[in-house]
Amino acid sequence: MIKIAPSILSADFSKLAQEVKDVEKGGADYIHIDVMDGHFVPNITIGPLIVEAIRPVTSLTFDVHLMIDNPGQYISNFAKAGADIISVHAEACPHLHRTIHQIKEQGINAGVVINPATPVAMISEILSEVDLVLLMTVNPGFGGQKFIPNVLKKIQQIKQLKDEFAYTYDIEVDGGVNEETASLCIEAGANVLVAGSAIFNEKDRASAIAQIRGNVNK
Ligand code: DX5
Ligand code: ZN
Repeated sequence: MIKIAPSILSADFSKLAQEVKDVEKGGADYIHIDVMDGHFVPNITIGPLIVEAIRPVTSLTFDVHLMIDNPGQYISNFAKAGADIISVHAEACPHLHRTIHQIKEQGINAGVVINPATPVAMISEILSEVDLVLLMTVNPGFGGQKFIPNVLKKIQQIKQLKDEFAYTYDIEVDGGVNEETASLCIEAGANVLVAGSAIFNEKDRASAIAQIRGNVNK
């Protein structure tokens, strides 16, 4: 089953609640929330207060992507605010095993993320412990960037390891996902697709979501 996770980074923040409801109505599976600190990535976005504010608006899974230094310091804040999944970058976690377990101790799902230039080998020892592997298909920091096709072979590697060792994680991709690149990602083994601009820049979110999902079901 393919899941679609609209990234609210590309939503109209002046009416965020309405935007979240709109994609829920349009068939979204998750709400993807991009947290940036101006250190790990060159942009500042959403904190736990905003997550808490939109929590009552929807029952969809909150998929929180932390692009911040020292993510461990903020895990309980985001969990209390309503996160269902928290993903941390391997590049930002010198003690990745500890950080992943900190997330699980909150009673929620834990994901690990790697940037386009980071090899799969960097996370091989944590794959048995995570609920989600998120492969960045752009360099994190901004919405609306171009998909990096080199990442497709890392999706295949992560899928192959999943099958070989019977791991249970979902495989998510994030960045530059549109109806064309979505089908390439699914073919490579991804089952959760984040899309920001390809959904929120369209007036009709239901049809944008259906197009991304429809194309991949061909
Ligand atoms: C990039 C973020 C993405 C971004 C995706 O740093 O992690 O979630 O919002 O936006 P699009 O789909 O426009 O590339
Ligand atoms: Zn993201």
